[in-house]
Amino acid sequence: MHLDHRSPHHNNGAIPAPWELGLGTRHSYLVIEIVSMFWLAIILLAAPSCVRAQATAQTNVAPELRECYTDPRLLDRNNLPPATMPVLISIIQSIEDHPNARDFNLRQLSVLILQAFRQDGIEYHQPDSSIATTSNVMPFAPTFHSFYRNKLLLSRILPANLQNLANSTVNSTLKCALHRMFSTTVDARVRGDENKCNQLSQYRALRTARGLREHLLKDDFEMLDVATLNSAKKTGQMRQYNPNDEVDVSNLNNFDLSERQTLLLSQCPILDGVVSTRWGAVSAGNVIAGIAAGAQPQTIPISELARGSIINQPNIQSFVTALYPATLSGDLAEAVLIQNSQSGSQSISVGTAGSWNSTQAPRYFMIHAPNGLNNIEMTDPEMRGDIDGFVLGSSITTLLQSASQIRLSQVLDMYYTARNGVLDPTRRACNRQTLSQEVIPTANLVAETLAFTAVLDTNMPLRGTIIGGLEQPVNSAVTNFQSYARNNFNDLNCEFTESNTVDFRLRTNLYLVVDVSWPYQTIYPAISYLLDKIEVGKYGSSVTLLTAFDGSIVINKTFSLADFHSEYTLSRHQSMLGGINLETALTNIRLLMSSELDNERIVNYVGGNSTVLLFLLNTAVQSNVAAMEQARILNETVPDLRVLYASSTNQFDALWQLVRDMHNDVLTIALSSDGTNVERNMNSVVSRVELIGRRIINPTCGSDFPSSAKSGQVHFLDHVEPGYINYYSISPNYFYNYNDNSKVRITRSTAGVGNLVVCQSRSWSQPRQTNISVGAEQSDVVCQTIATSGTRDVEINLRGACGGHMTINSCPFFHISVQSVLPTTTTALTAVCTDRACRFPYDIRYQVQIDDFGCFSGCGSTTVSLTLLLFAFFYNLL
Ligand SMILES: *[C@@H]1O[C@H](CO)[C@@H](O)[C@H](O)[C@H]1NC(C)=O
Ligand SMILES: *[C@@H]1O[C@H](CO)[C@@H](O)[C@H](O)[C@H]1NC(C)=O
Ligand SMILES: *[C@@H]1O[C@H](CO)[C@@H](O)[C@H](O)[C@H]1NC(C)=O
Ligand SMILES: *[C@@H]1O[C@H](CO)[C@@H](O)[C@H](O)[C@H]1NC(C)=O
Ligand SMILES: *[C@@H]1O[C@H](CO)[C@@H](O)[C@H](O)[C@H]1NC(C)=O
Ligand SMILES: *[C@@H]1O[C@H](CO)[C@@H](O)[C@H](O)[C@H]1NC(C)=O
Repeated sequence: MHLDHRSPHHNNGAIPAPWELGLGTRHSYLVIEIVSMFWLAIILLAAPSCVRAQATAQTNVAPELRECYTDPRLLDRNNLPPATMPVLISIIQSIEDHPNARDFNLRQLSVLILQAFRQDGIEYHQPDSSIATTSNVMPFAPTFHSFYRNKLLLSRILPANLQNLANSTVNSTLKCALHRMFSTTVDARVRGDENKCNQLSQYRALRTARGLREHLLKDDFEMLDVATLNSAKKTGQMRQYNPNDEVDVSNLNNFDLSERQTLLLSQCPILDGVVSTRWGAVSAGNVIAGIAAGAQPQTIPISELARGSIINQPNIQSFVTALYPATLSGDLAEAVLIQNSQSGSQSISVGTAGSWNSTQAPRYFMIHAPNGLNNIEMTDPEMRGDIDGFVLGSSITTLLQSASQIRLSQVLDMYYTARNGVLDPTRRACNRQTLSQEVIPTANLVAETLAFTAVLDTNMPLRGTIIGGLEQPVNSAVTNFQSYARNNFNDLNCEFTESNTVDFRLRTNLYLVVDVSWPYQTIYPAISYLLDKIEVGKYGSSVTLLTAFDGSIVINKTFSLADFHSEYTLSRHQSMLGGINLETALTNIRLLMSSELDNERIVNYVGGNSTVLLFLLNTAVQSNVAAMEQARILNETVPDLRVLYASSTNQFDALWQLVRDMHNDVLTIALSSDGTNVERNMNSVVSRVELIGRRIINPTCGSDFPSSAKSGQVHFLDHVEPGYINYYSISPNYFYNYNDNSKVRITRSTAGVGNLVVCQSRSWSQPRQTNISVGAEQSDVVCQTIATSGTRDVEINLRGACGGHMTINSCPFFHISVQSVLPTTTTALTAVCTDRACRFPYDIRYQVQIDDFGCFSGCGSTTVSLTLLLFAFFYNLL
């Protein structure tokens, strides 16, 4: 492993540096490519002698990650999807489904992902202006303390993997997003917004829309601000710190790799490698490392990891267990070594709070560091990630025994979710505080941390040489960790989580029609929030972005949050056509929806998802007769599409005639320009979308509803999570006439804990057992139970369900729910569904079969049309 890529002799001086050329030009890519080909050659030559050498464990930025630092588009985090757990899960799912990786199991994939994307400790280094700029240097290198632990992990402690994850598995955007989410480092450069960052909530409120926009445009370009760097070089003067300067250009005469990258430190440095979850920010690299280490448990003799006097001391155990250095002991050892060698302190401080500067689109996690970069070795997100990684890692072998096919994305999905957990309701992120006190054996943690501290000591440069006596600081670190984990996190607990989340999941095909006059920084956080709530994802909802100008597609339907966020950037928003034309938009949307119905006929789609069309308007609209006519045709030809309008000001008068339910389908969202009051405003939209049941349809109807088309007997499969409920709605367009044979049959097809309860109603769109009688009144909700043994199915007859209704439009939908009811004493769940159709291994599968549905269209019912025209007429008179 003698690969010192930093040797100066391949600097031929003739090729200008990428940042001098103006990054992003073809020329600079060429430079990078030549440079990286050079590295590649060296690695290939060196490979046979060190099979385990990983590019991300080398002391320069791994070749495949370099574009994340040289391409200004990728360097600007606003072009990367936000760092949230659902986004991370969606990227991991796309890797798991990729042909390059489909054969890897959880054990292999967790290691491969770390090797490919995690490189801790990469820092910016201000080029020294007194030397001529070299052509072959990018000003980033892995020099922060976190690099050394991860280097040991990747090269010696985690199981060796002979394969690689091919570079083509994810594209550049997602690669850089993963790299940022996994790699712990601190960027302490002064940004200029420090005076506000200790009061982040006020900070957001104070900013004007204009200031924000400038910021969004400028983000991170500051790192390589050509003009400023050049002018600093030319003048060669010492510059005073000016808080308005985006770039710290202090002349570092004594520039030294072992020093911090700048003399002036931000009071709220950016911590990288952090992912936002509902239960606090976590360092995702530590979580995955815990899973990887736990999936292949091994102990490594410390004599293989280090040389030197400390490891020979008698009270240090002779091995480390991989799970410990991968998680808790790794960060504890860093804290012990750095704090002890810097100040001789025997008392080791752990825990550093911080926060995101945007709640709905989290990309920058800022730690609170008023005293410079002291005691920041084990920040809050790292500690949470360590605990989560430890909990998951220590249970993963048992999990693999009961569900051998389980995937990495599923483990994360089960842990960071409101209910059920990793086959055990106690194993959930909301239970972290209890887990941190109960699952981690103190004696082992002390012994392992002591051993790994000794190992790391000889692998990491420090300010002094520790000559013994590590027990006391290690004990202090462990004690302080335990008390911090018990007392200092203020994360949502399980009780609160369960009472504040719904027990049903959405599966909605959401069509968002966006008015470009919304400032991006206003509407993007709102959309981001909505997509999280409806769970856009492989097993959940989809999103399609249309423009309000003419209803044309801007972003194709996707089930991946990562895809949507990579596409919907500021520049994409600004490139959309401006203006609103409801008539054209509704006409084009009607054609789009009709072709969807025709496609559903081709693929014989019987149902399972709901469809919602949501207009997000920021301009006053004029509704005319032509638009109303389009709305009416859409209403009648695509019967189970729900159309909603949400607008920045109250536009009820212009919009009420375009919707199905004027009291509920026209909403006002008074979003503030800086995206801070998203939740309050968007919850009205979310709860409206939540009420729209999943469709059950006759696939033979298509968009033309031929009256001769009968469904026969067809079915689809669906799944319900233990303790959850699925809601369906059937439009009268499929059962309008009197037909004895029109029915729906729900059949349970897998085992699993608890009963299924099937309820039906005409008046409740979400029927449940608890609605059977509401107060003294009897409701129309009827429920039947499918027990774990005995009859496996329930039949619902639709005979005469529209009796007494003269028109299809006046006949209400038929609502059905399927609920999994758990015995109150459930402590463990079994993996009953191991194929890829199931989001969770404990999902309960059932079949929804329809029998003899017809096709009845309300089209051409002139009465409705006439009424509308009359309305329009009077409306215009007023
Ligand atoms: C693969 O890696 C090279 C650099 O080694 C990079 O130029 C290229 O864009 C990468 N391809 C993808 C799909 O990321
Ligand atoms: C968050 O902070 C970063 C870094 O200073 C800045 O570029 C970005 O604009 C901020 N975002 C918000 C929403 O304030
Ligand atoms: C319905 O949702 C599922 C899961 O989210 C998805 O796989 C399927 O493609 C969707 N079907 C349609 C027609 O959108
Ligand atoms: C959407 O997908 C279709 C086909 O899959 C493609 O032809 C079209 O270019 C895509 N549109 C956009 C806006 O990406
Ligand atoms: C990367 O892939 C995502 C999703 O597949 C896509 O949205 C994005 O545009 C791609 N980025 C690049 C640079 O190709
Ligand atoms: C759509 O149909 C419903 C009845 O199903 C009716 O109440 C509503 O007024 C219709 N809306 C439009 C815009 O035609």
